[in-house]
Amino acid sequence: MTIIDGKAVAADIKQQIAKEVEQIVNAGGKRPHLAAILVGHDGGSETYVNNKVKACEVCGFKSTLVRFENTVSEEELLNKVKELNNDDDVDGFIVQLPLPKHISEQKVIETIDYRKDVDGFHPINVGRLSIGLPCYISATPNGIMDLLSYYKIETSGKKCVVLGRSNIVGKPMATLMARKAYPGDCTVTICHSHTKNIKEECLQADIIIAALGQPEFLTADMVKEGAVIIDVGTTRVPCASRKSGFKLTGDVKFDEVAPKCSYISPVPGGVGPMTICSLMRNTLLAGKKEFYK
Ligand code: GUN
Repeated sequence: MTIIDGKAVAADIKQQIAKEVEQIVNAGGKRPHLAAILVGHDGGSETYVNNKVKACEVCGFKSTLVRFENTVSEEELLNKVKELNNDDDVDGFIVQLPLPKHISEQKVIETIDYRKDVDGFHPINVGRLSIGLPCYISATPNGIMDLLSYYKIETSGKKCVVLGRSNIVGKPMATLMARKAYPGDCTVTICHSHTKNIKEECLQADIIIAALGQPEFLTADMVKEGAVIIDVGTTRVPCASRKSGFKLTGDVKFDEVAPKCSYISPVPGGVGPMTICSLMRNTLLAGKKEFYK
């Protein structure tokens, strides 16, 4: 059994990005610039955005953090999005989700110029991904593809079960794993809250990607011997013995599932670091005015 070290893979990829950025800058090119909009003071979002800004420094990118209070109006936020769309110095930007209830996330996403949508959330990018055209790919699923390829995990003809059907992870993940490519070429099943025989589906899977947001959902009795398990869960479960007051908990019961696997990604230190790394890769591409092909 191999524990997938997302932290090490992400560090390696960020070093490669930093090298390429220096080459671009030394040749007289523009340093890539990522902007992030953060609304309010949600603990998780603050941490994610801080980590994105830190990763920009490691990669040699310029970064700008734009902050709004929770009370910001939808119109004011949309105006900022339009301003960033038209700012030639900004190569790509993200609006950290979730947003306060009075703001339509979909409206915000659709206002972002898809050529600067380094989150890959805009319907144009999602649609282009689904028919195999150059696009930006949602960071978490793309980071998982990087992990599979870094560890040279076989995917062709394998049965892959994706647990969860979110727009950000489950749906693009299923699209990528079914794609005519490596990693990909899988027979993919998406399971969700209305799936009747989830245990039987999982028991048939060679690869399980758990992205339900239900702590320790996947147990040993649901996993085939030798399966590859990728855990996307990051639920903050209250924990009195920790200074932070919570324990980041995945969707997989790691201790009992790990002995049955060929590969397993832990939480933390698996998919999480790769998500930010993928955003950096998207930003480098945006800086070069390129897409994933
Ligand atoms: N909230 C949780 N994950 C993400 C992400 O990948 N991008 C943005 N913008 N918000 C998020």
